[in-house]
Amino acid sequence: MHESLTTMAQHILKKHFDASSIPVSWEHSKEEGHGDLSTAVALQCAKQLKKNPKEIAEILAKELKNEKGIDNTEVAGAGYVNVWLSPAILIKQLNETRKACTAKVKRENEPPVIFDYCGPNIAKPLGIHHILPHVIGQALINIYKHNGDNVIGWNYPGDWGTQFGKLAVAYGKWGEGKPVLEMDIDELLALYVRFHSEAESDSSLEDEGRAAFKKLEEGDKELRAFWKDAVTVSKRSLEKLYERLHVNIDKETGESFYEDKMEEIIKEGEQKGVFVEGEEGALIVNFPEEKNLSPYMIRKSDGSTLYATRDLAQIRYRIDECNPEAIYYVVDRAQSLHFDQLFEVCNQLGWDLPELEHTVFGRMSFRDAKMSTRKGTVLRLEEVIDEAVKRADKVIEEHGDKIQTDDREDLAEMMGVGALTYGVLSQNRKMDIVFDWDKFLSFDGNSAPYLQYTHARAMSVLRKAEKEEVDIPEEVESLSDRERSLVNVLLKYEKVLLEARDTRMPHILTNYLFALCQEYNSFYNSEPILKAEEPDRTLRLCLTSLTASVLKSGAEILTIRVPDRM
Ligand code: ARG
Repeated sequence: MHESLTTMAQHILKKHFDASSIPVSWEHSKEEGHGDLSTAVALQCAKQLKKNPKEIAEILAKELKNEKGIDNTEVAGAGYVNVWLSPAILIKQLNETRKACTAKVKRENEPPVIFDYCGPNIAKPLGIHHILPHVIGQALINIYKHNGDNVIGWNYPGDWGTQFGKLAVAYGKWGEGKPVLEMDIDELLALYVRFHSEAESDSSLEDEGRAAFKKLEEGDKELRAFWKDAVTVSKRSLEKLYERLHVNIDKETGESFYEDKMEEIIKEGEQKGVFVEGEEGALIVNFPEEKNLSPYMIRKSDGSTLYATRDLAQIRYRIDECNPEAIYYVVDRAQSLHFDQLFEVCNQLGWDLPELEHTVFGRMSFRDAKMSTRKGTVLRLEEVIDEAVKRADKVIEEHGDKIQTDDREDLAEMMGVGALTYGVLSQNRKMDIVFDWDKFLSFDGNSAPYLQYTHARAMSVLRKAEKEEVDIPEEVESLSDRERSLVNVLLKYEKVLLEARDTRMPHILTNYLFALCQEYNSFYNSEPILKAEEPDRTLRLCLTSLTASVLKSGAEILTIRVPDRM
């Protein structure tokens, strides 16, 4: 419909102003009562045509009104043209919405887009803030996959570095000979924590830790075996969490994987004069003054490599192996300087680069003071998930009159995990992300439980009508205001998905789903559905079925499950 409207508008512009090939785009109207579609073309081409925008808009409005499929038009503001489509045309477009609920076929032959995400640091349990690179990353990957993009969700665990030297020293001193594989992640953490507290009074420990990592890098057999087991223990605990969070990794290479790939790059950098000697024989990169970047260390004075060195090798490897179109790093804002430096080093090395982006997210802060001031170790993600599920179960109990379920445990899991994920994904990732139990679990706000309840409500209407999918009716003569406005929200789904993809902003999708829930619920509360007369009944059931499909499709893209019944 957008295309034929565009052709019509261009035709009119040609006829009246002899202007050809003026681009005309249509937006879904933002507010109710302003038509279904709107264009700003009169404002955009006024200069070129040397005419008053209002004058152009008046002509467009007048002529478009006579076209088939258009019920009404108006000029708004300084020169916008709003258009009301005929009900039949409007409803017909819902076919596109239905299509948008299914993922497109993957375009295998395109160069891939890589998302670097998760990045858990091995040998430490995940803290609550780690939920961010996991769910933001997975949501983005799912948005791209849904669009048919050739995406690789690539996990880059921190399984290398000085911390393993420290852990090995701690294990040697206080591990009491217990085989590492019999330990769990908490025991490893306890060793690590002890190392740091003892190192406060005994500074030689730090040196010991660094020396142990150097030995590990040099290939010491015993240390290697220890490292391997520690990684295994961590992975075990991660797997469970990933399953609960619906994190599905396509490919994984940890920092250790790049161990033998750094030497070559170091040589290249030295040869090209990009890596130069810094203090005490370390290898560094100095940036030109206008870049405003502090020096970047590539190799320490004792010869060991760093996070930075491995990240360089990681980019080289991905380019050589996959020839990607882009690599997006879903990583904490605290690492902005690191990525600025890293990307600039790649430039200085003269590499032929894909698009590189630090897809940042902000810090997590807590509404509940108790959570932010908790002493000692970090608040663990697993504990918070368990707590969320417990709280969700309470919500189910409190709403016992409204909620019916045959599997309360599963529903609580779905609601609890969903509440955390939704809570994160409903916020603009570039800002600080506020953790707020009340908001996350609210039953009638911008939250997972509200989305889940609305989906279940729509499904229950369909169940009562004994329908699953309802065909889009071909002949619709009139639409009530509520129907029209629900249709218009449904019609936006396709565009919203694209916008969330292009900006890599999952909250655009989340907040759209919220708007759809609100719209459906006011429709549900004001129009009879099952008791309506035909043809209204079929139309309303069709809108109900589309609402359920969009909610389910959108929620699953965001890694959130929705129940058919609750
Ligand atoms: N493990 C890192 C951290 O926790 C995140 C890894 C991000 N990815 C990357 N390619 N550097 O800080």
